[in-house]
Amino acid sequence: MVERTLSIVKPDGARKNVIGDVISRFERNGLKVAALKMHHLSRKEAEGFYAVHRHRPFFASLTEFMTSGPVVLMALSGEDAIKKVRELMGATDPAKAAPGTIRKDLADSIEANIVHGSDGPDTAAFEVPYFFSTLEIHG
Ligand code: CMP
Repeated sequence: MVERTLSIVKPDGARKNVIGDVISRFERNGLKVAALKMHHLSRKEAEGFYAVHRHRPFFASLTEFMTSGPVVLMALSGEDAIKKVRELMGATDPAKAAPGTIRKDLADSIEANIVHGSDGPDTAAFEVPYFFSTLEIHG
């Protein structure tokens, strides 16, 4: 099924100069960039985006990290896009990520893990419109 999913190159990805590397891995694997922008998240925006994690012990640190510099927000579309992006990213903890995945190759820690991707259809349905209006999505 053709799906849309939300991905973020996190502040560590921008700092490490791997924005193009991440996007290129998505494109090379059949995903289409349907929307794209760079943005420095406010605390409120980060807390709203990760609201599902608000009771987790890492929430304060996560939102602090996500507001530490600009991120690249993108909507990706394609066949099984949600699963495909998750496979390309690898496990949340780079130490557990499979060889050849974005996090294994580029990430330093479970927090500074370079990239985010929606974890299922319900999450994607919340996350894509959180950052992009209908008029900003091209595919
Ligand atoms: P992400 O896919 O953006 O969704 C939630 C984020 O919380 C996750 O990636 C991690 O970067 C971050 N995080 C930090 N600490 C933890 C943890 N102990 N367990 C899971 N996620 C964590």
